[in-house]
Amino acid sequence: MKKNKILVTRKLPEEVLARADKTYDCRFNDADVPWSSDELVDQCSGMDGVLCTSANRFTKDVLLALPRSIKIIATYSVGFEHIDLIEAKSSGITVTNTPEAVTESTADIALFLLLAAARRAREALNIAVSGAWDGWSPTQLLGIEPRGRRLGILGMGRIGQAVAKRARSFGMEIHYHNRNRLPQSLEGASIYHSSANELFLVSDFLSINCELTESTRKIINAETIDLFPNNPIIVNTSRGGVIDDEALIAALKSGRIAGAGLDVFDNEPDINSKYFSLENAFILPHIGSATVDCRNQMGFRALDNLDAFFNGDNPHDKLC
Ligand code: DGY
Repeated sequence: MKKNKILVTRKLPEEVLARADKTYDCRFNDADVPWSSDELVDQCSGMDGVLCTSANRFTKDVLLALPRSIKIIATYSVGFEHIDLIEAKSSGITVTNTPEAVTESTADIALFLLLAAARRAREALNIAVSGAWDGWSPTQLLGIEPRGRRLGILGMGRIGQAVAKRARSFGMEIHYHNRNRLPQSLEGASIYHSSANELFLVSDFLSINCELTESTRKIINAETIDLFPNNPIIVNTSRGGVIDDEALIAALKSGRIAGAGLDVFDNEPDINSKYFSLENAFILPHIGSATVDCRNQMGFRALDNLDAFFNGDNPHDKLC
């Protein structure tokens, strides 16, 4: 039987590529270099579908330039802000993502960042590896203990809930804001706030786990930073665009924000270079989902969606 043709825009884990290769007639990105929008459109020529990543931007212009043969874009990510869903829908292109696959590993990284920022891990590491450490001291590198403090979670979807579960075991009190309040069975002892600003007012720590949308873009800015109780810790594992970098950098410099743990950045991979010299900014290169298990699951989930689509079924994670 003739196989459907799919473009795989980046090198994926071996097991995922092997399964893709078995089912589809694949065009791979052997050099594993990110393609420009023009290159992406060219590579789509003759293909039936695309298995892309969150770095491939399917803007309205790109979607309009795609060959008509493209019927599905399966993104290897839970985030889908890189795809114009309205245009995809009107062009008759199905779009799917990979929710659930990334939940646990991203929640792990959120807690890792929370602890790293609270315990001044970057400063500590610098002292340890520089050879400049002059011995244990009662007042050296004093951090903030999570126990008994309030963790605000902005965006209480799967990842937010997984963060809450972990943070409870550190003795934190959970507060959250979400578009919809959770049912009691999921909310448990967490305290709901009907607006983001109300949440900020009570957050000693904040974990950002919401989608990037027009209403969450730069939701952390000079005005909202003023709302927090003194010297909070801010953690972001969602998308960089939710933070106004200049405002956060100013607050980290002044100490208004005690520390930040950031895995995601606006305009990746071009991180605002002012973070580089800020010792209270613990920064990572978008590794929230970077475990073998998670990256395999993401690939299998994307392939499940492609398989369902090409078999004439409704993909489980259909966005449009
Ligand atoms: C996701 O799944 O959205 C991760 O951020 C990787 O892009």
